Amino acid sequence: MWILLYFTILGTYTAFGAVQTGSAVPGNSVSDAATTRGPHFDTAASKNVTALLGKTAYLNCRVKNLANRTVSWVRHRDVHLLTVGHYTYTSDQRFRAIHQPHSEDWTLQIKYPQHRDSGIYECQVSSTPHLSHFIHLTVIEPDTEIIGGPELFIDRGSTINLTCVVRHSPEPPAYIFWNHNEAIISYSSSRGGVSVATERGETSRSVLLIQKATASDSGNYQCNPSNARPANVSVHVLNGEHPEAMQHGGNQRMGSSVNIFALLTIVLYTYC
Ligand SMILES: *[C@@H]1O[C@H](CO)[C@@H](O)[C@H](O)[C@H]1NC(C)=O
Ligand SMILES: *[C@@H]1O[C@H](CO)[C@@H](O)[C@H](O)[C@H]1NC(C)=O
Ligand SMILES: *[C@@H]1O[C@H](CO)[C@@H](O)[C@H](O)[C@H]1NC(C)=O
Ligand SMILES: *[C@@H]1O[C@H](CO)[C@@H](O)[C@H](O)[C@H]1NC(C)=O
Repeated sequence: MWILLYFTILGTYTAFGAVQTGSAVPGNSVSDAATTRGPHFDTAASKNVTALLGKTAYLNCRVKNLANRTVSWVRHRDVHLLTVGHYTYTSDQRFRAIHQPHSEDWTLQIKYPQHRDSGIYECQVSSTPHLSHFIHLTVIEPDTEIIGGPELFIDRGSTINLTCVVRHSPEPPAYIFWNHNEAIISYSSSRGGVSVATERGETSRSVLLIQKATASDSGNYQCNPSNARPANVSVHVLNGEHPEAMQHGGNQRMGSSVNIFALLTIVLYTYC
């Protein structure tokens, strides 16, 4: 029993020493550093936070050698005192102070974070003079994109390849629907040649392939994930005509086909 206790204490000291070695006091022995160095932040455990819109965020502040001082959280934007020690001061019910007894972590919990919550939060230690560590909170939201959008020009007879990418969704979307001109695309319709492949994860992708494009495949396509905003793309199937009929977007494309033509001519000229 006593041996076990001894080793537990020794183990704690060794772990503490390892952390100390990594910090800014080389040369000092562990016990010297622990007693002579006042309160200080463990910045590696008190990092900037990126939170998802609406999903509870935790801002951590780890303070070593706190002794009898108090840790407070202050919102920088309006110098609003949010928490003091274990107590939540603000009347905004979304904020809460979290601290386990004997822990060095003083955590600020923010429920339902909004874009306006993005900004700087100050973790303050009540020593004289007081110490501050600043943490940047960034609130992001799920984002849906169709690669190459918002307008795509495709030659008749070629394959329409629409890749929809969903980033930062709280969970991978349960499903991703595709619409064409407001109707859900059926993969078993008489048209044939329509397939979709979906890969779900931290970043999800859904690839819609439509073989042998015809004029009737033109129009608006929408990628609609279950838990993120939809994204649209406008597809123009070119009937062999030059895209100069289109007021914009066409010129650039014609420019590049002219270039390719010129290049081909040069290549042919060189090798023939
Ligand atoms: C936190 O974010 C701010 C602003 O983006 C940056 O200046 C600072 O270096 C970051 N701090 C850490 C510890 O990454
Ligand atoms: C904290 O403890 C020190 C002695 O260790 C004492 O001088 C100081 O007044 C105490 N501060 C508070 C706020 O209790
Ligand atoms: C479709 O496009 C994506 C990138 O946009 C590409 O990775 C994929 O290979 C393409 N698929 C086909 C069948 O062309
Ligand atoms: C996006 O697609 C949907 C469904 O096809 C349609 O109702 C909506 O009008 C489109 N939005 C834009 C901006 O084109």
